[in-house]
Amino acid sequence: MAVALIVAAGFGERLRAGRPKALVELAGRPLVQWSLDVLAAVPAIGQIVVALPPADPVLPRGVHGPAGTLAVAGGKVRSESVSLALAAAGPGDPVVIHDAARPLLTGELVEATLRAVAAEGVDGAVAAAPVTDTIKRARADGVVEATVERSTLWAVQTPQVFRREALERALDVAPAVLAEATDDAWLIERAGGTVVVVAAPRENLKVTTPIDLTVAEALLRRRWRA
Ligand code: CTP
Ligand code: MG
Repeated sequence: MAVALIVAAGFGERLRAGRPKALVELAGRPLVQWSLDVLAAVPAIGQIVVALPPADPVLPRGVHGPAGTLAVAGGKVRSESVSLALAAAGPGDPVVIHDAARPLLTGELVEATLRAVAAEGVDGAVAAAPVTDTIKRARADGVVEATVERSTLWAVQTPQVFRREALERALDVAPAVLAEATDDAWLIERAGGTVVVVAAPRENLKVTTPIDLTVAEALLRRRWRA
């Protein structure tokens, strides 16, 4: 069975909601509840661990997980929250990591990343959307240096799924390296592991600023009307 880690320990400074982002109400429920429910419904996942901001080891009022769901206090940086959640998890392999900030997760996407990591020689599989904007590289003074070939570029999301041994090894690094990591796959890559991308819809957006909350709310309401 797989274990799933939901990282929800950030404060959401860019959202400016006055409370942790994971607990902000979205379409009538706390943000984290949307992805918690999706992961709970995936048959291959045996346990869910949620990394939360307070040191209180229980899910906040209004947030509900299936039996066996654990809540742990997260760390100062995202990778530290991943590390602490993994340390609290029971046995289970592979490890599914998901940002609470992506409430539009689907069971199909989780299944697709789980299938991809099961392939021979793969250590990690990450949900990602092909880049649709034209991408330019510019100097600090704004002058464009190059227009980057887009066809090989992917905007990386979560879920990210890893073989547990590879993830544990990749996380066993100095705090300064953990602090530098913007995603877990990078830690596997720098340790020489093989990571594959799994095509995901752009709809699996990350709630970062207030406008993302508006878009996510509209998409969730549309999904539930359909
Ligand atoms: N996260 C975490 N622990 C941290 C920092 C972030 O578990 N120390 C989680 C967030 O809760 C979020 C995900 O990592 O689900 C992606 O991070 P981000 O979108 O940057 O969320 P925040 O750090 O909360 O937002 P901000 O950077 O605006 O403060
Ligand atoms: Mg952050």
